[in-house]
Amino acid sequence: MAAMNRQLRLAQRPVGMVDDATFDLVETPIPELAGGEALVKMAYLSIDPTNRVWIREEPSYLPPVGIGEVMRGGAVGTVVESRSDAYPVGAVVTGLLGWQEHAVIGTETLGRVVPDGVPMTAVLNAFGSSGMTAYFGMTDVAHTKEGDVIVVSGAAGSVGSLAGQMGKILGGHVIGIAGTDEKCAWVTNDLGFDACINYKTEDVPRRLDELCPNGIDVYFDNVGGAILDAALARLALNARVAVCGTISTYNSTDLPDPIHFYFNLVSTRSRMEGFLVLDYLDRFDEGAAKILEWMLDGRLQAKEQIVDGLEHAPEALNMLFTGGNTGKLLVRVDPEA
Ligand SMILES: NC(=O)c1ccc[n+]([C@@H]2O[C@H](COP(=O)([O-])OP(=O)(O)OC[C@H]3O[C@@H](n4cnc5c(N)ncnc54)[C@H](OP(=O)(O)O)[C@@H]3O)[C@@H](O)[C@H]2O)c1
Repeated sequence: MAAMNRQLRLAQRPVGMVDDATFDLVETPIPELAGGEALVKMAYLSIDPTNRVWIREEPSYLPPVGIGEVMRGGAVGTVVESRSDAYPVGAVVTGLLGWQEHAVIGTETLGRVVPDGVPMTAVLNAFGSSGMTAYFGMTDVAHTKEGDVIVVSGAAGSVGSLAGQMGKILGGHVIGIAGTDEKCAWVTNDLGFDACINYKTEDVPRRLDELCPNGIDVYFDNVGGAILDAALARLALNARVAVCGTISTYNSTDLPDPIHFYFNLVSTRSRMEGFLVLDYLDRFDEGAAKILEWMLDGRLQAKEQIVDGLEHAPEALNMLFTGGNTGKLLVRVDPEA
């Protein structure tokens, strides 16, 4: 009998948070490999806010996941069978391998072979899309420089915690915004941020006035909404707003609240730029080399939070929206990983 694969397939598009009806857990035989293909045994899934974006009806930067299709998602695993020279047995591979226990790569799905010695969890965090998003967002998009006053929302999350630390390394004065006192304590005490605002219990505009009396030079936006508006209202001259994501809108079926302080971009001659980490794929080695240097120097740390079991991936996704994660959220698919 053929070996079996378990997959989470999109059953219906959610309204708001995902629920029990959003995905079907399906058992299906692992297909025979064709020439040029390899079979990857999944170790970890990367749980990302963009997973929620991909199951919306409307297209974004990638087409929506179709009903009945395996849920799209970043993952890492090991090649366990191969008919491909590019993916030898034993190679660690990462890519959009999907929410499943095994993935066939080499034809429709491609993977990137990971250099020896990088822990699988780090492949999805500091050396994966989170690290690269933080790095290229802070450098290429925000043009962070010595002396900048930097505000980072989603500060205790995966991208935000890395972006804020990079802001410090690049010589900035960094203020985080996060949803609990524990998260604020972590980014200030452990990660070296200069201050942190709890947006659930504090008055964000007033605190920004206190903490950034001369305005904000760089706003690294992970959340959008009212926090973006508060930052726009306080831009310094020639500020840069790096639009990384707008998690406050991903579960919503309504149009986002209006942005009131847009004109400040004009009066301060500032630049607001959206970016996608996918556009930096050919520069990942450059980002990884810098991140490795900073980690070895002890100046950059990355944290992972792990949920066990493929079947718990939907609940894990919701944790991103309730603030249940600190650092990078991963699902361990292989209990032995
Ligand atoms: N542009 C790109 O290429 C790219 C690549 C990767 C990620 N991103 C974006 O980067 C952002 C962060 O992603 P991540 O993977 O690092 O996730 P994450 O920050 O690890 O997790 C999401 C965090 O967002 C916070 N949050 C949730 N709802 C919120 C709301 N309504 N208002 C304010 N904060 C809220 C929660 O923390 P609290 O407890 O603080 O609320 C939660 O922990 C997302 O917007 C994502 O789409 C963009």
